[in-house]
Amino acid sequence: MCGIVGYVGTQQASTRPLEVVLEGLRRLEYRGYDSAGVALVAPDGGGLSTAKKAGKLANLVGELQAHPLPVASAAIGHTRWATHGAPNDVNAHPHVAGPIALIHNGIVENFAVLKAELLADGVQFRSETDTEVAAHLLARAYAETGDLSAAMCGVARRLEGTFTLLAVHADLPDVVVGARHDSPLVVGLGEGENFLGSDVAAFIAHTRDALELGQDQVVTLSPDGVEVTDFFGVPAQGRRYRVDWDAAAAEKGGFASFMDKEIHDQPQAVGDTLLGRTDLAGNLVLDDLRIDESVLRSIDKIVVIACGTAAYAGHVAKYAIEHWCRIPVEVELAHEFRYRDPVVGPRTLVVAISQSGETMDTLMAVRHAREQGAKVLAICNTHGSTIPRESDAVLYTHAGPEIAVASTKAFLSQITAAYLLGLYLAQLRGNKFPDEIAETFDQLRAMPERIQTVLDRADAVRKAARELADVPSVLFLGRHVGFPVALEGALKLKELAYIHAEGFAAGELKHGPIALIDEGQPVFVVVPSPRGRDSLHSKVISNIQEIRARGARTLVIAEDGDDAVEAYADDVFYVPQCPTLLSPLLATVPLQVFACELATARGLDVDQPRNLAKSVTVE
Ligand code: AGP
Ligand code: GLU
Repeated sequence: MCGIVGYVGTQQASTRPLEVVLEGLRRLEYRGYDSAGVALVAPDGGGLSTAKKAGKLANLVGELQAHPLPVASAAIGHTRWATHGAPNDVNAHPHVAGPIALIHNGIVENFAVLKAELLADGVQFRSETDTEVAAHLLARAYAETGDLSAAMCGVARRLEGTFTLLAVHADLPDVVVGARHDSPLVVGLGEGENFLGSDVAAFIAHTRDALELGQDQVVTLSPDGVEVTDFFGVPAQGRRYRVDWDAAAAEKGGFASFMDKEIHDQPQAVGDTLLGRTDLAGNLVLDDLRIDESVLRSIDKIVVIACGTAAYAGHVAKYAIEHWCRIPVEVELAHEFRYRDPVVGPRTLVVAISQSGETMDTLMAVRHAREQGAKVLAICNTHGSTIPRESDAVLYTHAGPEIAVASTKAFLSQITAAYLLGLYLAQLRGNKFPDEIAETFDQLRAMPERIQTVLDRADAVRKAARELADVPSVLFLGRHVGFPVALEGALKLKELAYIHAEGFAAGELKHGPIALIDEGQPVFVVVPSPRGRDSLHSKVISNIQEIRARGARTLVIAEDGDDAVEAYADDVFYVPQCPTLLSPLLATVPLQVFACELATARGLDVDQPRNLAKSVTVE
């Protein structure tokens, strides 16, 4: 998610708190966002003042110039990457409840239950966000305790999901309180002033002395002190360290590139996309879908439209949704779709997959499908973008801002959202029993940890990439859901290393492409689980033998325990076992790492590859 900054200082009321917070938000600007806001507390009864605006940070700065806030001694600031509620002024943070102002990065998974409780107590909500629930809970807890830190502990214990929270109180001009669970928060230690940030980039211009907060901790910041407790008020320790990154490196969380950072963000991106998708009974609830269940029950065909990496996510979706729902799924390149006079109508569900929500090819295909009477559901990572706005329904991924042009965490999140859609349709149409759906959803929930395991093993992939840094081409083979993984692996290498790379269905090799195999030709092979349809596994083993016999260097991705591949593989990269249909979430990761490392070894810019744009807004 986006950015959070906090400041408290001893100086008498001044413009410094606002200056520090705005500068911190500016340093977090690279993360992209859809709105920004600040809250200030002035001493001597000066009270609380706030400003917030949709759009770029410049919009907030303009607002502050037009309507200056009073000088202050404490301040918090926020850049939002919307997950619940459109990116507008009302949904922007901070959210105010009585004397409290609160900002939040993350997702409050149980906000619906908590909101119902507060509404029943007569609380009036202004926004559509999950965050506002926490603001009202905090105001209520403070009214009971009279202690902002204790109140924050109580609220943190009630929230489920991921959160970094910061809060200030109108009557406490020298206090900022924060809490974190599964979302980052770092303290910057100054002289007579202290800082908070979602990463050190927020305050690195003022201090390099940092205190990293652990899981489930609350921090109380005053000008001369920092107190850390757990969620029960028991004193705890943060990890003190000296920041040796420069500001540019700090923006990437210490990674060498946004590409590398986002590859490592994938466990959280998949986990966040799964958050808040089930009700108390464990049934799938896709609240933001906004499409009538009767329509979903009546569809007799699904057509996925997308481009590039998003289209490969669609190909994975095809295997899963057809298997779970027994509905035919066609995957179409958006720029081809509307020129071939496609057969779509009122009983067709068109699923438009787009990270940016602005890809013109996909947008034009959406418009064409709607003109033909089809219902359109967008799977998108960017709230309020054009494609969701022009669709009948939307299922947002929660990958957070994806800065690198070559898509990684958005791809895994798109696949995850497509799985959610397939399971939801199967539940709604009765293709699967509730226990079958619950079992698959449990397997999905285990995927972030498995993705992390793949990342922990990635050094072997990086080593192979450096060895192959000068090769002129790499081929990629896969079967079943491994085929779109092969296509995506080839695309990543083309985009990042500018070398020829081609993905094939492994079964297609003998129908021509095998002529490409020459001595030393590197070939990645994505091997299906031996626990699945055995014929698939043994056929791919045969493919590996065929290319090895012709001199290929075989780089094999296989699941733990599959030692049948060892005899034919020059390199084996093992991934944890998981259901075959979910395996793209794991098999893709070594290919991303390989492409990133090989391009880096060639001295190329992996974040901004030549000739490419993050969002292709022309046809
Ligand atoms: C992915 O690495 C590429 N940058 C590109 O293929 C991208 O996936 C495609 O342009 C679609 O973009 P979208 O998801 O924003 O619609
Ligand atoms: N879920 C919150 C919202 O949609 C916070 C999103 C963020 O991390 O910026 O407002």
